[in-house]
Amino acid sequence: MQITLNSEPIAQIQTEALVTYVFEKDGRIEGTLAQLDAATGGRLKALAEGGELAGKPLEMTLLHYPAGLAAQRLLVVGAGKPEKFTLAELRRLAGAALRHLKARSVKRIVFVPRESDCTSAAAQALVEGLIIGAMDSDKYKTEKKNGNKEIEAVQLAGWEATRLAEVEQGIARGRVVAESQNFTRDLVNEPSNRLTPCMLADRAQAMARESGLSVDILDENRIRELKMGALLSVAQGSDEPPRLIVVTHNPPQTPAAGGPIIGLVGKAITFDTGGISIKPSEGMEKMKYDMAGGATMLGVMRAIAHLKPPVKVIAVIPATENMPGGRAQKPGDVQVAMSGKSIEVINTDAEGRLVLADGIAYAKQLGATHLVDAATLTGAIVVALANVNVGVFGNQPAYTERLLASARNAGEKMWPMPLDDDYREMIKSTIADIQNVGSGKGGGAVTAAMFLKEFAEETPWIHLDIAGTAWLDEAKPWAAKGASGVAVRTLVDFVMNFGSNG
Ligand code: BES
Ligand code: ZN
Ligand code: ZN
Repeated sequence: MQITLNSEPIAQIQTEALVTYVFEKDGRIEGTLAQLDAATGGRLKALAEGGELAGKPLEMTLLHYPAGLAAQRLLVVGAGKPEKFTLAELRRLAGAALRHLKARSVKRIVFVPRESDCTSAAAQALVEGLIIGAMDSDKYKTEKKNGNKEIEAVQLAGWEATRLAEVEQGIARGRVVAESQNFTRDLVNEPSNRLTPCMLADRAQAMARESGLSVDILDENRIRELKMGALLSVAQGSDEPPRLIVVTHNPPQTPAAGGPIIGLVGKAITFDTGGISIKPSEGMEKMKYDMAGGATMLGVMRAIAHLKPPVKVIAVIPATENMPGGRAQKPGDVQVAMSGKSIEVINTDAEGRLVLADGIAYAKQLGATHLVDAATLTGAIVVALANVNVGVFGNQPAYTERLLASARNAGEKMWPMPLDDDYREMIKSTIADIQNVGSGKGGGAVTAAMFLKEFAEETPWIHLDIAGTAWLDEAKPWAAKGASGVAVRTLVDFVMNFGSNG
């Protein structure tokens, strides 16, 4: 999808659809809308007075062949209350408008932001919304549901001539971030027979080569040499061999010795049956998305490769299936992780924390001074936060706060969760150092995070539980059903700010 700027007067723009938005209780048709209203001989005012242009969030008013405009259509999207309108709303609105028009076979559109949104940050959010909104997952359909409905070109119009260079930068950055988020979504949508751990490693390698990142794929032998007993214990139940994917961004300008190194660790269970503690069959097909944490980190690395922050970043992605094969680990087995800690595996379905334990240990061995992990780790986070917020855990409040600030910048909902020492009691094992599920009832997302904390130790570390947010069970007006790509934008912002603030 082509995205360019258009600096013609908006009434004269020839396009299939001109898009803008109106606020709720705005009443005042001003700025961009006033221009359109004047060109159309007062039609917008008349509609607003008749209550048809109420500005309710994502209300769509589509006018065909509006008199006075060169455009074939004018789409006015409801933007809700002006005081609640942020870049997050603008992003969604852009995506929703695009999807509305895509469904009507429109191919070329011109988006006119309101006068208050003519900034570089707004251009970025807009472009992100458009590119995320444009994606549909019909890869395996032999007959595309929407025929050949694709938006081919979008122009952004109405920007002040003095700000064009700045706006171009916003567009370029928005494109990188959103295409990286879609890269993640593509991987997450893949069924497990088309994305085994080896195939995920191949995809990571291809992405890294295209983007100029270094990549190291560790096979089973090297994983064994590193004594990653926790990762191997999960992999042993499957005929598909595991892989440990390592992708590195070395900044162009060598950073000061002793500078920070960010380690991004992502859970990549390409299918989670639960193992011997097998899951119920209903809904099990969705467990192909249990590699979303790993795919998130790959998307982040792709964006970083383009944006080149002056900080070293290493992504470590343990990839395996969790299967109940004849050699599968069994409840009660004791495993020894790479760090040397022994783990009693009470439940083989709590496998994410096992593979992450070794992923975190390896990231530290590679020199990571600051860690973030992302994982579809627990059903319990869905109980706590539903499908709305990502659960955020950490061992250093100031560090965690930086991530929450990035989530706000990126327009992603994330919420801090507790991690008091009291929860440590719940993962004490009778026979090993630690057990992989919490004893007693409740706090499943917290005990899972507590388990990971044992491996992060003193290194600043953040854990994102994306089990409830990585998958959309229903389409949103601004995004297709399926993988959401949550946390990619937040982590890109986090790493970019890390680069500038140390
Ligand atoms: N992959 C699941 C978590 C999950 C649940 C992801 C729902 C997406 C949606 C994870 O490996 C798991 O099975 N966790 C168990 C842990 C339990 C056995 C302690 C869970 O949450 O039920
Ligand atoms: Zn599981
Ligand atoms: Zn899992």
